[in-house]
Amino acid sequence: MSALAIAVLAAGRGTRMRNGLAKVLHPLGGRPLLAHVLATARRLEPEALAVVLDPRAQEVAARVGEMDPDARIVWQDPPRGTGDAVRLALTALPGAERLLVLYGDTPLLRPETLRELTARHAGSGAAASVLAFRPERRAGYGRLRLDGDGRLLEIVEERHADPALLAGAPCNSGVMLLEAGVVRDLLPRLPLRPEKEEYYLTDLIGGLTAGGHFCAVVEADPEEALGINSQRELAFLEAVFQRRRREAMLDSGVVMPAPETVFLAFDTEIAPGAVIEPHVVFGPGVRVAEGAVVRSFSHLEGATVEAGAVVGPFARLRPGSRIGAGARVGNFVETKNLALGAGAKANHLAYLGDAEVGERANIGAGTITCNYDGVAKHRTEIGTAAFIGSNSALVAPVRIGAEAIVGAGSTITRDVPPRAVAVARGSQRVKPERAPGLRQRFARRRAEKGAKE
Ligand code: UD1
Ligand code: MG
Repeated sequence: MSALAIAVLAAGRGTRMRNGLAKVLHPLGGRPLLAHVLATARRLEPEALAVVLDPRAQEVAARVGEMDPDARIVWQDPPRGTGDAVRLALTALPGAERLLVLYGDTPLLRPETLRELTARHAGSGAAASVLAFRPERRAGYGRLRLDGDGRLLEIVEERHADPALLAGAPCNSGVMLLEAGVVRDLLPRLPLRPEKEEYYLTDLIGGLTAGGHFCAVVEADPEEALGINSQRELAFLEAVFQRRRREAMLDSGVVMPAPETVFLAFDTEIAPGAVIEPHVVFGPGVRVAEGAVVRSFSHLEGATVEAGAVVGPFARLRPGSRIGAGARVGNFVETKNLALGAGAKANHLAYLGDAEVGERANIGAGTITCNYDGVAKHRTEIGTAAFIGSNSALVAPVRIGAEAIVGAGSTITRDVPPRAVAVARGSQRVKPERAPGLRQRFARRRAEKGAKE
């Protein structure tokens, strides 16, 4: 196999998204479109991987390092079309013998499909192999003109295609595998298309066949090569992405009675046999272990739910939450940076942040870890089998020892030793038989007020 380089084109302005955010930074399944494409590209183990970016979109450049630290950035200034972008990429990749072109706005492609494209190309003698597809909605895609033997003659952009081509021809996914030695000379000679003032990569194919080269086509799954140019298409692809992830989860043995209501992230891990009830949202970084149950209307992000734990309904697990084996987090409980010990319970209405809770501890309804003093965050530690009475405020930094009891309604500002009882609230006064007299006093006052008005 000769040296494979990959260029991911991501310099387009994405004006059709109409919201000012760079198109390739829009999230799909909880991570940017570009991160999906870079992850897929990396799976092919290329010798070099370049991303073509517009220097005016520094917000994209700033994120590339976290998406793929080894990706090289090639600046396209100004962006003058996909053909211009590939020309610049190839100049920056002098060692490339084959160049695989991917578009930053086409995030659903699978590595298997790209491997098949490279494998088919290898033995074909083609100067270029193009990935084609036949999506249900064809608007916006270039069309492939094939000869009677199924060889690719040219790619025609939609605005220039005749009705026959528009109706019958397969669409251009944008993915192309190019013989670098052949296309290097041709790329600088692409025509400038006046309607957009751009050099189209698609024009390369007509140029190659005119020069006597052979171009091949490989057809992909109709959904996989869908591109995103608008919010509507982004939402449509999110639906496709979600459906595929849910199907994979169900196939692996996850129990999800209403899968269409569950939102998954690109990296959600759920063990076979775990139960996900209707209307649960997973942000990035969540792992759910075997036998755990996530009940309806819960929102999880950056959280681990250990074996047999039950979360929700209506729970919110924020980043850094680790819910121990068999633990319970009930309705209207919010957690952040929390290690909840095995078998511990926080069943109702609580905020547990920057805290460590021991095994079998019981956190009463309305407990708040007051972790923020307006300047810095502080930690709360609650020992094994401690009991925190309802409506307690634990003002951090503070430690409640193992097996200690905190009385309901306490505001705890100092450490409580193990096995101690701490009560910190106004004490109750009871005055026997005083209620009737008090009521008469109130009634008199009201009558006097009425007479004055
Ligand atoms: C392009 C193809 C079309 C194909 C479709 C597939 C061309 C001329 N047309 O159209 O045949 O069916 O993709 O989705 O190639 N980009 C750059 N620099 C530029 C312009 C674009 O890097 O100067 C990048 C964009 O960021 C994007 C990709 O190239 O990731 C495609 O550009 P876009 O403007 O979306 O092209 P389409 O109109 O979708
Ligand atoms: Mg596009």
